[in-house]
Amino acid sequence: MQDFQRLGVYTSGGDAPGMNACLRAVVRTALANDLDVTGIRRGYEGMIEGDFVELDRRSVSNILQTGGTVLKSARSEAFRTEEGRRQAAEQLANNRIDLLVAIGGDGTFRGATKLHDEHEIPVVGVPGTIDNDLYGTDATIGYDSALNTAIENIDRIRDTADAHNRLFLVEVMGRDSGFIALNCGIGGGAELVLIPETITEMDMVKERILSLMSAQRRSTIVVVAEGDELGGARGIERALRDDQDFSDIDLRSTILGHTQRGGAPTASDRVLASRLGLEAVEALLDGHADVMVGLVNKDLKLTPLQNVFGRRKSIDYDLLKLTQILS
Ligand code: F6P
Repeated sequence: MQDFQRLGVYTSGGDAPGMNACLRAVVRTALANDLDVTGIRRGYEGMIEGDFVELDRRSVSNILQTGGTVLKSARSEAFRTEEGRRQAAEQLANNRIDLLVAIGGDGTFRGATKLHDEHEIPVVGVPGTIDNDLYGTDATIGYDSALNTAIENIDRIRDTADAHNRLFLVEVMGRDSGFIALNCGIGGGAELVLIPETITEMDMVKERILSLMSAQRRSTIVVVAEGDELGGARGIERALRDDQDFSDIDLRSTILGHTQRGGAPTASDRVLASRLGLEAVEALLDGHADVMVGLVNKDLKLTPLQNVFGRRKSIDYDLLKLTQILS
């Protein structure tokens, strides 16, 4: 086995609840294997600038239960260039970092694989994004927390929607995927769910809403993914307000936005983050690189990073059917 000395760890892209729990697991597993650990602040931006911090057991005390990321995060334009990556590799070499754990999503892994290919730095990715859009894992760290936050908010919206007999359009995050929308639609009892994976005509949406509202419902909630082709909650609201048939319908839109990214991680995210963090370090020590650790059918699995961003993770179309039957 190669004699590794120092592991670097960073969080990059959009933060997600559970990233800190993962960091804690990475640091403690590395220390237990006699590695020194460097925290790289602000993702690839900090890697280029050498914004590094020594981490020990105590540096990761009391962060398991917190949202955000204590290492901070950034989206780096400079790292997209070869020169940026060369500078980053130089900083890593100067600080004797010979192993890397990258916690993040699609963009984070595209950067990691380039760093690996161009500078031969062993890197293992851990899926951390609320979007759950990564191939190679059933769930990403932060997804369950975001889902719970979305459902909690939909419950609140239901109270006020019911009180006023209103139609609410609730927009949730997910970038160009509908995992959050689909599952919070089910968990929140939404009457209609609109996701980017399926094309829905505006006329069909209008027809469905009118039929739901005329069936003497107390309230109607439409959950729409931000990446839906109809333009999210704002796009649909505009179309409905321009239509005479909707003039009598009391309509409001709520965009849940970044509330879904914050807050304490759920139990499920804490456990997932801890398991994946440990597995990432062990995979590196076993000689794996350029892979992502994930949980597939309850088993820990390694997937080449190329496959993670080269393939699209499919939603479960049976769940979509479920929303239609239950509404
Ligand atoms: O990828 C996570 C995510 O929260 C997406 O759901 C959303 O589209 C995006 O990040 C928002 O990014 P930003 O925080 O840079 O506005």
